[in-house]
Amino acid sequence: MTGQQQAGPAAAAAQLARAVATLRAGGVVAFPTETVYGLGADATRPEALERVYALKGRPRSHPLIVHLPDANAARAWAIAWPEGALRLAASFWPGPLTLVLPRSSIAPDAVTGGQDTVALRVPSHPVAHALLAAFGGGLAAPSANRFGRVSPTDAVHVLDELADVLEPGRDAVLEGGRSAVGVESTIVDCTGDAPRLLRPGAVGVEEIEAVTGLDVVAADPRVRAPGTLASHYAPAARVVLVAAADVVGSIGHALHPVALLAPVAVPTPEGVVRLAAPNDAADYARALYAALREADALGAGTVLAVAPDAGPLAAAVLDRLGRAAHRG
Ligand code: TXA
Ligand code: MG
Repeated sequence: MTGQQQAGPAAAAAQLARAVATLRAGGVVAFPTETVYGLGADATRPEALERVYALKGRPRSHPLIVHLPDANAARAWAIAWPEGALRLAASFWPGPLTLVLPRSSIAPDAVTGGQDTVALRVPSHPVAHALLAAFGGGLAAPSANRFGRVSPTDAVHVLDELADVLEPGRDAVLEGGRSAVGVESTIVDCTGDAPRLLRPGAVGVEEIEAVTGLDVVAADPRVRAPGTLASHYAPAARVVLVAAADVVGSIGHALHPVALLAPVAVPTPEGVVRLAAPNDAADYARALYAALREADALGAGTVLAVAPDAGPLAAAVLDRLGRAAHRG
C-alpha cells in the first residue's frame, strides 16, 4: 500500500502505474475525487467488488457508482440516454454529478445491487482522471469510509478509516490533497420522464432544471439509495442541529465537551470548542466532514451545528447534517 505521494512527476507516474497494476490484479485503490475520496475496484469484476463491500462493511444490496474517464467511455454502460441526461453530462462532466440510467450488460449485479439501473460519474479531480484514463475502464467506487461513517475528504482520513484492513502489496492509496467540494456528488435519476434528485450535492436543482428544461422531482423513497438512509455520515459525537440564536441556550442540554460547527457570523460561546467557521455554504461543505472527524478526535460529547442559510451547497450541507444528527 502506498500511503505517501512521493515528490516529482516520475514518482507520481510510477505510483499511478502501481495503482493500475493493483486494479488489474483485482485489488482496491483509494483515490481522491473533487467530492470525497473513493475506494475503487474494476467495475466489471465481481470478486474485486466483493472485496470493496467487505472492506467497507457495506450491505451487498447497496449499489455502487461507476466512475469513468469521460462521457464517451460512459456511453456503453447504459442502454438509453434520454436528452436530459445527455445535456447534464455535457454540462457537468467532468464534475460532481452522478446520473442513474438503465444499465447495459457491462454492469454486473455486484455494481447495481441487482437493480436494472446503473449510476455513472466522470470526476474532475486530476488524479482521479489520470487513474481512470490509465486504467482505461470503469471503476466502481463508494466513498472510502466504513459503512455509515463520515466520508473522507483527505488521504489521511482514508487511512484513519481503512489502514487496518487494506493490505500492503495488494491495495493502494493515492493522495490528492483536500477534496475541493467536500460532500458527495449530486445524484440524479434520469430513468423517468422528469429528473429525480436522489442526493443533493454541488450541482443544484436550479442548474439541473436550467440545463434540461425540466422540473426536478423529489426522490421516491422506494428507490434504493443507501446514501439516503436517515442515519448516515455519522460521527460518534451526538450532532444536534440548532438555530444560530439557540446556540447558547442549547449548551445546558449538551454532553460535554461541547463543540460548535457554525457559519463565521455565529460567535463561539465560552467553554465551547469551535470546529470550523465557514464563510459560506461552499466553504461549509469543504470543512464539514473534517470537522466531524475533529469532533471525535477531541472526544466531543455533542456537536452543536448551525446550518448555512444560503448558497448552492446549503441544501447538500443541511442534508448531511440531518443524517449525521439522526440516531438509530
Ligand atoms: O461523490 C461521490 O459520489 C462519491 C465519490 C467517491 O465519487 N461516491 C459516493 O459513493 O458517494 P457511495 O457509494 O458512498 O454512494 C453512492 C450512492 C448511494 O446512495 C447509492 O445508493 C447510489 O449512489 N446509487 C448507486 N447506484 C444506484 C442506482 N442504480 N440507483 C440509485 N442509486 C444508486
Ligand atoms: Mg458513502
